[in-house]
Amino acid sequence: METEKRTMVLVCHNVDCKSRGAEEIVQRLKEAFAGHDQVEVRTYMCFGTCHEGPNIVIYPQRHWYSGVQLSDVPELIQAIKNGTRVERICDKTDPNARGLIYNLLDAGVY
Ligand code: FES
Repeated sequence: METEKRTMVLVCHNVDCKSRGAEEIVQRLKEAFAGHDQVEVRTYMCFGTCHEGPNIVIYPQRHWYSGVQLSDVPELIQAIKNGTRVERICDKTDPNARGLIYNLLDAGVY
């Protein structure tokens, strides 16, 4: 079985995150990684930390960004390309909530 090696950029697309600008953020990310075979930008149904959105998860790296603003996107793109993190907005959410989502992602539920 082939192992998934691509980085997935999962952007919540549910109501709360959308109301805080997730749609434009996902659009910018998709443009930045168009044709990039190692990074795939996808929308995600909901991470369950809606009040902290827009939420974005980088997987399998397990970088969880919350409260992402459009102004953060260039730095986020660079970090994804470099394999680094934007510390000031990374992993600020409840570790238990993150763990639940990572379990789903590990099980292949995207
Ligand atoms: S609406 Fe985005 S995490 Fe639920």
